[in-house]
Amino acid sequence: MTLSCKTTSNMLVTGGAGFIGANFIRQRLSGDESCRIVVLDALTYAGNRANLADIDPSRCEFVHGDIRDTPLVERLLREHDLSTIVHFAAESHVDRSITGPDAFIETNVQGTHSLLKAARTVWLAGSGRPHRFHHVSTDEVYGSLGMSDAPFTEEHQYQPNSPYSASKAASDHLVRAYHHTFHLEVTTTNCSNNYGPFQFPEKLIPLMLLNCLHGKPLPIYGDGKHVRDWLHVDDHCRGISLALDTGRVGEVYNIGGENERPNLEIVERITASIDAAFAADRSLARRFPDSPAAEGRPCWSLVTYVKDRPGHDRRYAIDPRKAQRELGYTPQITFDAGLTRTIAWYLANERWWRAVMDGSYRDWITHNYATR
Ligand code: NAD
Ligand code: TYD
Repeated sequence: MTLSCKTTSNMLVTGGAGFIGANFIRQRLSGDESCRIVVLDALTYAGNRANLADIDPSRCEFVHGDIRDTPLVERLLREHDLSTIVHFAAESHVDRSITGPDAFIETNVQGTHSLLKAARTVWLAGSGRPHRFHHVSTDEVYGSLGMSDAPFTEEHQYQPNSPYSASKAASDHLVRAYHHTFHLEVTTTNCSNNYGPFQFPEKLIPLMLLNCLHGKPLPIYGDGKHVRDWLHVDDHCRGISLALDTGRVGEVYNIGGENERPNLEIVERITASIDAAFAADRSLARRFPDSPAAEGRPCWSLVTYVKDRPGHDRRYAIDPRKAQRELGYTPQITFDAGLTRTIAWYLANERWWRAVMDGSYRDWITHNYATR
């Protein structure tokens, strides 16, 4: 069954204070006047109220809570009469899943199960009601591709390699099982690597960008030839909305950018953009005196090869043809435009990332690199 826009106008968004959730909420509220959102977020190190600070609270209510709190989720669904869940909440960083996998099992597996249980209790009681549980997942569940392998289709075998991807794979299977066994109306999107505003600076693009500004090493894991399929977060959010509004119940859609790049190329583009920005705007040298670019030296000089990530997947790539065919999905933001926009956003939002860096970010960066 396809949900009408009306049914999906009011929704519970889990993890809405994180990177993709916050971007989704902005896009959804601006595209649908009647939309009202309840955000459920535990505000882990990656969650940030500031990501939603400028949003009209009469259209977006924030609830500080944990997705593992099943009675709380049931109460929110009932009290707000919500028939849609868009589920972003997760532990999302592969490196953290290597140093501390427990939180990944607790949030990504147990947390997703808690939401499914609540949805089943509230939505399927009696004769049931129209509803939708949309699960936001990752291409990493499919494992690693060889350089000449075809990109991931929705039928690709699951071969998760990190505790992060294994926990997301488990959550995907639980969502599938609740549909198959209990007829919960679900959709899932598996997306490639995102970038854009509000991304926590532990992920490749914002980390490299901010390290350029501070004159800190740019840590390249292994040989830097690992390939990711980069997609601007707004295009991911458009894909999620299409799956939510027009996707077929029980279906999985792969969302990607057809934009494969090795990590070294990403870092090269960021360093060149920062060099050019400093050359064009002399105030940047005053704001960021520790950057090599402040003295006219290339930021590329900061590149430092470090020990590879254990189990590091070599290549991810998405085959988006099903989403194109069934949802009319096409990415709208080229990588050049998206990266330029993203760098401009970080330069214009220093207060945001300074506040983020006051917290756990600094410790994480300091303690987790072993120079080769
Ligand atoms: P993020 O780490 O930036 O945000 C996660 C959010 O979830 C935070 O606000 C955090 O506070 C919240 N959260 C964590 N544990 C919680 C819990 N137990 N209860 C309630 N809230 C909790 O993550 P992101 O990059 O925005 O990713 C969002 C989703 O998209 C994740 O499910 C991730 O697996 C998936 N995804 C991410 C990418 C990517 O490139 N970032 C790509 C594909 C899929
Ligand atoms: P990341 O942003 O952590 O996303 P994921 O591991 O989910 O793909 O990393 C993207 C790629 O960049 C990945 O191949 C690991 C690599 N990487 C580095 O080389 N150095 C870094 O400091 C980080 C954070 C990532």
